[in-house]
Amino acid sequence: MTVLNVVVGITGGIAAYKAVAVVRALVLAGHDVHVVVTEGALRFVGKPTLEAISRNTVHSDLYEGVAEVRHVALGQAADLIIIAPATANSMAKLAAGLADDLLGNTVLASTAPVVIAPAMHTEMWQNAATVANVALLRARGVHVVGPAVGQLTGADSGPGRMSEPDDIVAAALAVLAPKDLLGQRIVVTAGGTREAIDPVRFIGNRSSGRQGVAIAVAAAARGADVTLIGANLEVRPPASAAIRLVEVSSTLELQSAVTDAAADAEVVIMAAAVADYRPERVAGSKIKKESQGDTLRLDLVRNPDILRALAVGRREGQVIIGFAAETEADREALLELGRAKIARKGADYLVLNTVGWSEGFGTEGNAVIILDAAGDIVGEASGSKASVAGPILDLLT
Ligand code: C5P
Repeated sequence: MTVLNVVVGITGGIAAYKAVAVVRALVLAGHDVHVVVTEGALRFVGKPTLEAISRNTVHSDLYEGVAEVRHVALGQAADLIIIAPATANSMAKLAAGLADDLLGNTVLASTAPVVIAPAMHTEMWQNAATVANVALLRARGVHVVGPAVGQLTGADSGPGRMSEPDDIVAAALAVLAPKDLLGQRIVVTAGGTREAIDPVRFIGNRSSGRQGVAIAVAAAARGADVTLIGANLEVRPPASAAIRLVEVSSTLELQSAVTDAAADAEVVIMAAAVADYRPERVAGSKIKKESQGDTLRLDLVRNPDILRALAVGRREGQVIIGFAAETEADREALLELGRAKIARKGADYLVLNTVGWSEGFGTEGNAVIILDAAGDIVGEASGSKASVAGPILDLLT
């Protein structure tokens, strides 16, 4: 993984408190983060918080560190500059090229890509001056993330809310990602299917969809044309990621969506946790305990094995990647299960991970072993679900 030198500029809006989470996400992803705050930002969030989270000295004063020419050194060293939140005032200053504070100097002295996450009230966002400034910044190559539509600081809501920190980080890192999957059509399934029992109940699993969504986001950042088939996702890809999202719930719905999408895709990655069985009959109305007594018996029938069917029917050159979530903790036993599974499924690769009450499903991190069709280990990765996505996608380059 390449460690990036990232300057996070924080300007004076209430969303500055959420900038802490932007810094945190970048640090946890392994990057070297240097925070530059404006005087206004310091009214909303304190330096000690930012220093603790960024693990670096936080800079605000243009006239400090003069001997080391800090007003240009930070910008010159940066691989990436993220300004979050970017207020209407700070965007106006950027558009005018003003250098009356440390952040302005840092941006002017840098050739790194600049990503801004605007945050302000709707009227300010829609004001002709702001609209013109944003258009000018975009024309100069500045990447604008958001703003989102939603609850603002007061009672009002509308466009102007700063994008969520993870979305900002994903969009910013995507700017620097190598475009080595450009033009590849990739289908990713994510989440866990739900099999209806009656109108209000289902049989499901604890998959959140985080790993599949992370793969889809990383693939889109690397230039792929991504269709994400999401089954009951707890997390969604950021709006900024160019991903076609198809939402499904049951295994049969997922089968139909993935079969359609796979027809003109080069790659299918089946990260979804798909139910092996579904109730044979779905009750038309809520099942009542009064009519069932002490035991309720459900007859379940086998669902189709989508992965196997895709692998059997794949076109020449199409790559099919399966996942295996197992509760086996012993590495050798896990590998044996994985080897048997890839042979049974006929996939090109199998991403093997252990899941349990507290691992794998629903968690932020993951650890995987990747097997090829012969059952040989071709990769291992652990860390955040985003960092695990990298080696999986490397299989396609
Ligand atoms: O052992 P299991 O059949 O659950 O293997 C998991 C892999 O198979 C995953 O990639 C999952 O998406 C896929 N699968 C499937 N159809 C099923 C069950 C699992 O495609 N009915």
